Amino acid sequence: MSIFRLPENSRVRRDGKVYKAPAGAQDVRVFRIYRFDPDAGEAPRLDTYEIDMAACGPMVLDALIKIKNEIDSTLTFRRSCREGICGSCAMNIDGLNTLACTKACDEVKGDVAIYPLPHMPVVKDLVPDLTNFYAQYAAVKPWLQTRTPAPPDRERLQSKHEQEKIDRPSACILCACCSTACPSYWWNSDRYLGPAALLAAYRWIIDSRDEATGERLDELEDPFRLYRCHTIMNCTEACPKDLNPAKAIGAIKQLIAERRH
Ligand code: SF4
Ligand code: SF4
Ligand code: FES
Repeated sequence: MSIFRLPENSRVRRDGKVYKAPAGAQDVRVFRIYRFDPDAGEAPRLDTYEIDMAACGPMVLDALIKIKNEIDSTLTFRRSCREGICGSCAMNIDGLNTLACTKACDEVKGDVAIYPLPHMPVVKDLVPDLTNFYAQYAAVKPWLQTRTPAPPDRERLQSKHEQEKIDRPSACILCACCSTACPSYWWNSDRYLGPAALLAAYRWIIDSRDEATGERLDELEDPFRLYRCHTIMNCTEACPKDLNPAKAIGAIKQLIAERRH
């Protein structure tokens, strides 16, 4: 797993609320969780929750749901599928961007530190504002573009090999773990598309049925939109679905270079 870790944030107050474990709890884990409500006008703080793991599921998301249901209903986070499919529970756990529903508490040594995805505006607590992230995804036009009419009697077919090329990039769940682990994205997220959007762009560039490949490459041939990637590889290391956005970005650069010759 990646050695990328979120630096300790000195602006976060460490003297937040402490919720003690129930008396008699034998198997206690400590969760230190980032709390921030922009409307309250207070600095972010870390709250401490002691959880009796004998009465809690194994995943970090289980602990968050237990806290919300039984201890502190004000804790705010996103989740939906609980099985690594929807991408909504992405957050920074123990210094790594990952999905709370597939991260076992046992994988973390010591206290479990939980922050929102780094370098994103925070809506509340563990909920980042993904407006720009989704706009960048939409900007690469992640849908099939064709000029020729579809065959009248069947779908636009692909060979098995052509389909396999888009198999892995299509598995992206848009969790944003990769883009928010990318230093180039941290500093230029207004102009650099970031690894998630570029992986989506790649998925359509290599789709044998798509007929807008040239326009797609034209759109990306830009010092900021594409070339802010410096192949640092944090994105690939952060991806909880084992996808490889860095490789996809390299392939896009290669395709642009080839068409110049
Ligand atoms: S390889 Fe590119 S996109 Fe991935 S983390 Fe590095 S700079 Fe960011
Ligand atoms: S490439 Fe991986 S880390 Fe990035 S958005 Fe898709 S699933 Fe998440
Ligand atoms: S809740 Fe859907 S990916 Fe975690």
